[in-house]
Order: sequence, then C-alpha cells, then structure tokens
Amino acid sequence: MSDNAVDTGRRQFLTGTASVLGGIGACFAAVPFIASFQPSEKAKAIGAPVEVDISKLESGQRIIAKWRGKPVWIVRRTPEMIEALKKPLAGQLRDPESKESEQPKYAQNEMRSKNPELLILVGICTHLGCSPTFLPSPDAAGVGENWRGGFFCPCHGSKFDLAGRVFTGVPAPTNLPVPPYKFLNDTRILIGEDDGGAA
Ligand code: FES
Repeated sequence: MSDNAVDTGRRQFLTGTASVLGGIGACFAAVPFIASFQPSEKAKAIGAPVEVDISKLESGQRIIAKWRGKPVWIVRRTPEMIEALKKPLAGQLRDPESKESEQPKYAQNEMRSKNPELLILVGICTHLGCSPTFLPSPDAAGVGENWRGGFFCPCHGSKFDLAGRVFTGVPAPTNLPVPPYKFLNDTRILIGEDDGGAA
C-alpha cells in the first residue's frame, strides 16, 4: 500500500467523523432553542407568564391554572351572574370599589375584570391562605341569606361574591387578588403579563 493510499483512507475517516460530530452538535444546539419557547418548570415557579386555553370553558364554569405556584381561577360568568353583580349589595361588601385590594387598574371596577364575562382571580383566601370553594348557585346551602353565588372559605367562613369581593363580618380583610393578564386572542389568556409587561 502506498503512502498516498493510507492518507486518502485516513482523510475519508476524519471527514466522516467530523460530519457525525457536526450532526450531534446541531442536535444539542437545537434543543435549547426549541425549549426556549416553553417556560421550564423552574421558570414558571419563579414567575414566568402562563398561557391558558379557555376554548372549552363553558358559561358558569371555572377552570384552574397555576401561576407562581398559586391557583388562578378563570370563571366564565353567565349573563345572570353579571346582572346580579350590578345590583348593589348595600353595605354587605367590605371593599366594594376595590380601593384597598390588589388588582391591576383595568380590574378596579364592579366586575373586577377587563371583560365582564371572564373573571380571573388568585384563588387564595386573603385571611390565612386557604382555598375558597366555588359556590356559583344562589341556592347554595350553608352560606346564609342574600347569597348570589361566589366563593366560600371553609377554614373560617369568609365569603366573596362572583367578582371576588369580600363580605363584611368575616375574617378576610380584602378582596381576592386579580393577577395581571392579557387576552392573546378569543380563546387564549396570558396570566402574569399585561400590556405593561411581565409582573
Ligand atoms: S383562611 Fe379563609 S377565612 Fe381564614
């Protein structure tokens, strides 16, 4: 075998090896790029916005998303629920105008939302952090008179209406918080970010 023949074989081997390594490098390079479109579990835990599909959320129902490790409720209110919220509950709400409660500016209104049909709340009681129960029916048992539907905290009896506003005479001091959010389209909501940027 001539020196020339050895060199040619060696060159072919090296070229093939370089192609294989190049292919592996491309795979490794591609993975982080694709992954960057989806926030990791760690990123979600420290506050990355979360996209929620509400296309299957029926009128009168609630779904629960998770943002910063907290439950975020999304309720599609019925026309009856919206009408009921417009009738003042004379003196029964502690902070009816949400002056002392936590919400973005666009949710400081009687519906506490951008779109009256969609209510978005952090589902943690403002007393000691229990998770209130969703009781949307005005006929719900055990919540007292004048109930028009809302949320009842089983730990110490705090009550909230269907805008997350707290009643008087219960231990919770403020309304349920509204997180920042924005609509991406008719069926998708981004929780944790609004037009002013990420929370
Ligand atoms: S934690 Fe909800 S009433 Fe106490």
